[in-house]
Amino acid sequence: MKKIITRNEKETVALGLALGKKCHGGEVFALCGDLGAGKTKLSQGLAKGLGVAGRVNSPTFNILKIYRVGNQAKNKKTSQTKKIKCLCHIDAYRLQSEKDLLSLGVEEFFGQPETVTIIEWAEKVKKIWPPRTVVINLKQLKENQREIRIK
Ligand SMILES: Nc1ncnc2c1ncn2[C@@H]1O[C@H](COP(=O)(O)OP(=O)(O)OP(=O)(O)O)[C@@H](O)[C@H]1O
Ligand SMILES: [Mg+2]
Repeated sequence: MKKIITRNEKETVALGLALGKKCHGGEVFALCGDLGAGKTKLSQGLAKGLGVAGRVNSPTFNILKIYRVGNQAKNKKTSQTKKIKCLCHIDAYRLQSEKDLLSLGVEEFFGQPETVTIIEWAEKVKKIWPPRTVVINLKQLKENQREIRIK
């Protein structure tokens, strides 16, 4: 387990960015923590690190959003073949149960080598976390301080 303290939102975004860059595909990130804990900020960094262009917001009302990962340019430079093609961003805040999420077909994305999945309010859908889910707990310590634990 890794414990990181961030002192402002930029540091949280930067942490997400570093995590995103390390992804190989198939990762599922379960972000747990209260309102304003920094889940979306971390997600925005992750998305950027993966190579998602444009803005990533909390999909609270839509529950699920799919972003295309455009990392072709990066591939040419590093001559690495990155196979990640999309980011599946889920916000479970409004869900009553796991069933709601399953009915959207999310399991098709979980663990797919071409997809990285981020679940905000993941504690609400714990029963359907796939094996090897990366659990990230975020906690507000002070106004601008967050404790981020990665398991
Ligand atoms: N160290 C920090 N890391 C992240 N955000 C911080 C930090 N310090 C202050 N903030 C502020 O806290 C808020 C975090 O908001 P964010 O939307 O990321 O939280 P969230 O966990 O997604 O909340 P919600 O469950 O409501 O969607 C932002 O307004 C951000 O500016
Ligand atoms: Mg959020």
